[in-house]
Amino acid sequence: MEVKEICRVIRLICCIEFMRMGVLWTISLLISHLRQLLCNSNTFPRRRQPAQISAANPPVCIVTGATSGLGAAAAEALSKEGFFVILVGRSGHLLSKTMAEIRELNENAQLEAFEVDLSSFSSIMKLKNSLMRWLLDMNMHPSIQLLINNAGILATSYRATDDGFDEMMMTNYLGPFCLTKVLLPLLIDSPVPSRIVNVSSFTHRNVNDMQVDEELFYGKSYSDFRNYPFAQIYECSKLCILLFSYELHRQLCKDKVSQMSVNIADPGAVKTNIMREIPHCLSQLAFSVLRLLGILHYPEKGVSSILDAALAPPETSGMYFFGGKGRAIKSSPLSYDTMLAKRLWGTSCDIFLELKRTYEKSTLISACD
Ligand SMILES: NC(=O)c1ccc[n+]([C@@H]2O[C@H](COP(=O)([O-])OP(=O)(O)OC[C@H]3O[C@@H](n4cnc5c(N)ncnc54)[C@H](OP(=O)(O)O)[C@@H]3O)[C@@H](O)[C@H]2O)c1
Repeated sequence: MEVKEICRVIRLICCIEFMRMGVLWTISLLISHLRQLLCNSNTFPRRRQPAQISAANPPVCIVTGATSGLGAAAAEALSKEGFFVILVGRSGHLLSKTMAEIRELNENAQLEAFEVDLSSFSSIMKLKNSLMRWLLDMNMHPSIQLLINNAGILATSYRATDDGFDEMMMTNYLGPFCLTKVLLPLLIDSPVPSRIVNVSSFTHRNVNDMQVDEELFYGKSYSDFRNYPFAQIYECSKLCILLFSYELHRQLCKDKVSQMSVNIADPGAVKTNIMREIPHCLSQLAFSVLRLLGILHYPEKGVSSILDAALAPPETSGMYFFGGKGRAIKSSPLSYDTMLAKRLWGTSCDIFLELKRTYEKSTLISACD
């Protein structure tokens, strides 16, 4: 190991955020497992076959972050379930590689890929246009049946996106929120029941209080400091996606106009590339401890909660799937706070509208040039 790397490891071990990950995250994971064992968890059987629009029009499913870990496993499994799977990732090379790997396991897999960076609003907007064009070219119904908001990062340093947001908050929450808003009409227009699955995490249990303010989304005060509270921001981003899911679920229940539902999946601890920014020796140590405790899974098993959430009967909505076998448990008390969820929803909508206005203005200007 180089001296620079050794210094980085020592700095990380000494930082409070690493302790938080090591201790609090393990406790919150154990709480989720205990809840599943001790409380009466609801169980929802998976549907055998997703509803078909017509023989020539298989149900369309979008999986974000499909080039690695849980996303790749979900894309592969859902292609076997009969979905036309659209893989969304930020690297064209990795998308082609993942598609080839899925085809090796399932030669009949129906796959398409779109390059999208979820930390960029313009990239999200471009996806909608490309998707609409693709559905038209394929002679398919202009709708989608399943959206899996899976992409996520654990960033150990502050990075601002082109739109000025904290990259981790944008990738894990604001990006999925904007993508959902943009694709909502296509989900609502589905002639068969449609669904959104948002991937959260047991780490959300460590957030006891959260302010919905500019700092939450922009994190500007961290840009000058070396100590970016990465573990706390990751937890907050996962609570945000949970609050957003429950709020959307409540709105759908109230409207009762569409056959759309929303579920949440918590995969537990899974050996993926999520800790790529943590020094290798430390992430391996964490995986070894979790394996010793018997609570570490590989993506093929960890993906169960995502598949359970996606394939539960159409009327199942607002459920937090954890532990596989169709089981759903309760998330943290704060995640059911309706006032907080409404505040978050309102602020996120304001940000979405502002970004949309800026995007439309810039596309208009470039069209005139
Ligand atoms: N692993 C766990 O123990 C665990 C536990 C609880 C929850 N989760 C959640 O599960 C989800 C999947 O994570 P994973 O464990 O499978 O991690 P992973 O192996 O690192 O996969 C993350 C995926 O997200 C993609 N991604 C990252 N930033 C993106 C961006 N800006 N735009 C588009 N795609 C982006 C990555 O693409 P690249 O390949 O281009 O980087 C990759 O395909 C995440 O939301 C994570 O928070 C994981």
